[in-house]
Amino acid sequence: MAAVFVTGGAGFIGSALVRQLLAESPYDIVNIDKLTYAGNPESLDGCVADPRYHFSRTDICDRAALDALFAQHRPCGVIHLAAESHVDRSIHSAGEFIQTNIVGTYTLLEAARAYWERLAEPARDAFRFHHVSTDEVFGSLGREGRFAETTAYDPRSPYSASKASSDHLVRAWHHTYGLPIVVSNCSNNYGPRQFPEKLIPLMILNAVAGKPLPIYGTGENVRDWLYVDDHARALHLVFERGAVGSTYCIGGNAEHTNLAVVDTLCGILDELHPRAGGGSYREQKVFVADRPGHDLRYAIDAGKITQKLGWSPRESFMSGLRRTVAWYLANHDWVAHVRNGEYRRWLETHYGSHP
Ligand code: NAD
Ligand code: TYD
Repeated sequence: MAAVFVTGGAGFIGSALVRQLLAESPYDIVNIDKLTYAGNPESLDGCVADPRYHFSRTDICDRAALDALFAQHRPCGVIHLAAESHVDRSIHSAGEFIQTNIVGTYTLLEAARAYWERLAEPARDAFRFHHVSTDEVFGSLGREGRFAETTAYDPRSPYSASKASSDHLVRAWHHTYGLPIVVSNCSNNYGPRQFPEKLIPLMILNAVAGKPLPIYGTGENVRDWLYVDDHARALHLVFERGAVGSTYCIGGNAEHTNLAVVDTLCGILDELHPRAGGGSYREQKVFVADRPGHDLRYAIDAGKITQKLGWSPRESFMSGLRRTVAWYLANHDWVAHVRNGEYRRWLETHYGSHP
């Protein structure tokens, strides 16, 4: 069966997508991932034994390595998730974001174009380059309104500006060279296997470790939360059935302030893992200096993907959050390994040094 490239498949969303594609599609999956601090092969434990799963530790900025992978596997499409993904890191050090998100996407587009231009019909017509992006490219909302496919771009953080650049490159490769692309822009994801620098896993792990729960500014900022498996299902649909050249906005219809998210998490933890000394985890909340340029509110109108492709989220925010808390409570080893320098050294010996 035809192969599909998934870039960033050892990351949070990529690993959920790889698991779902192996379970629910006939494709061979070629996971192309550099294994940065955010990439963890343990997130794919259940996949490694599957003969349809292939892994290549490759940087998407490495054109020669990408050309060799296209020649070897002859994929029918690419689902591109590899990226630097954390806003706070982009504020402190934007260089890797420019490199991977912009230069890496450009390099992957050029490798895909060179391969695609030599394909004969019907493979050429059927080929898809699916670029996975974020709602943060649209900027920040006030109290009213939602982002949709027609919203003008207005990125404000180094992360969102680098993702906006990559979205523009992908669309330009369609308009200029005819590369058959689709783009999706999704709201904040949460779920198992998210690196504990992001709000939800950070709060769960800090809470049970007895550490402070740092809330930026007033905690009134709003995000629209989507369970990661719902996003993966949307990606599968957009890849297979999205109209060439089109964009699809994906969102959870689950807007919550950061303060409400942390309070809800604390409530779930109080029930599933009561505090050793009694009292509620809410007592560990602290308000800290705000993130520079902190976007006030994100929210997605997912009407187009619902109407055109029949997608809607299956997980409610409460059920998804309970699953997520339970997963982090039960998976200490995964957490220890992603945080632990010794594990990074083990990775170097098993997967080779960084390309
Ligand atoms: P993540 O940080 O968990 O994973 C990123 C993966 O990309 C890692 O496995 C990493 O090793 C790999 N990678 C990084 N640089 C690479 C390079 N140069 N070459 C090859 N691989 C490289 O990210 P995530 O949260 O899973 O996000 C995946 C994608 O989805 C990103 O493109 C992100 O912008 C987008 N997105 C994320 C969210 C969210 O809430 N997390 C929401 C919408 C869109
Ligand atoms: P994050 O998970 O970093 O995602 P993004 O910035 O891409 O939306 O943050 C989600 C929200 O939580 C965002 O408004 C910033 C806030 N936040 C905190 O208040 N404290 C924290 O320690 C973190 C990591 C985030």
